[in-house]
Amino acid sequence: MMEKVDFSVLAEKYEEMAFAQKTAAEILLSLMDLKGYEDVLDLGCGTGMLTRRIREMTSGRVVGIDPSLGMIKEAIEKSRGFNIIYEVKSAEEMDYDEEFDVIICNSVMQWFRDPDKALENCYRALRPGGRIGVQATAKKIYCPNFVEAVERVRKDERTRSVFAHFREPWFFLESEEEYVLFFERHGFKVVFSDMRALTSEHTPDEVFKIFSSGAMAGYLNQDYYDVPLTEDYISAFNEIVKEEFRKQAGSDGKVKLTFNRVFIIAVK
Ligand SMILES: C[S@@+](CC[C@H](N)C(=O)[O-])C[C@H]1O[C@@H](n2cnc3c(N)ncnc32)[C@H](O)[C@@H]1O
Repeated sequence: MMEKVDFSVLAEKYEEMAFAQKTAAEILLSLMDLKGYEDVLDLGCGTGMLTRRIREMTSGRVVGIDPSLGMIKEAIEKSRGFNIIYEVKSAEEMDYDEEFDVIICNSVMQWFRDPDKALENCYRALRPGGRIGVQATAKKIYCPNFVEAVERVRKDERTRSVFAHFREPWFFLESEEEYVLFFERHGFKVVFSDMRALTSEHTPDEVFKIFSSGAMAGYLNQDYYDVPLTEDYISAFNEIVKEEFRKQAGSDGKVKLTFNRVFIIAVK
């Protein structure tokens, strides 16, 4: 068992677990209505799952950036022959100047360490009239199933003393209006916004995989604790959430898994 979980550690298995991101990405792509010739930046591209879809939809330049070296290595490996440029870089670090017509950012904004800086950089990276499309989990209770499971971790005697040192890394706002204002504050004109709860049904094992494709890179990441994480803590944590997902299953053996998601399309 590893002692630190981040996106680099999860990279190899990411695509077989990322059902939720994939579904949301398809909704985002259809909302974006790509024109077929635009230069597109996939911000927080992960393993390039969505970047390769974008590549099929435009003859323009396609660039994917992500701060996780492991994710970018996996993206390069999986995108051989695709003509996509990948770079290890965060939204906060990027310094493109009017180079893209479109930025697509799927399941990433909640991870921004400095959301204002990131959005400022997005604005600068777009050409005038360019647009950004974002899908992100929203609200503090971003997924009631996960939040409930983690509440068990908070109380369980095996995990409570270490979990008390966990500091949530995520950027969440509570309403669609707040997200719209956030984009407007950075000079964007919001042309579409929607906040919805998306529910799908899965076995408890699948729910644990979905948990492992994103949330786990927060809850079990040493960077968000000021005490050392031990193997015992990590395995107790995983046992507790797995058990809770089993309890959440109905008589048909399926869990109704809900994510609050925000979709924003905004123009420079
Ligand atoms: C759940 S994955 C989504 C990957 C991809 N967009 C997709 O839809 O499959 C979240 C990604 O955000 C990246 N990320 C985290 N912080 C970031 C930041 N500040 N700037 C850009 N990407 C970031 C992570 O490394 C990770 O690859």
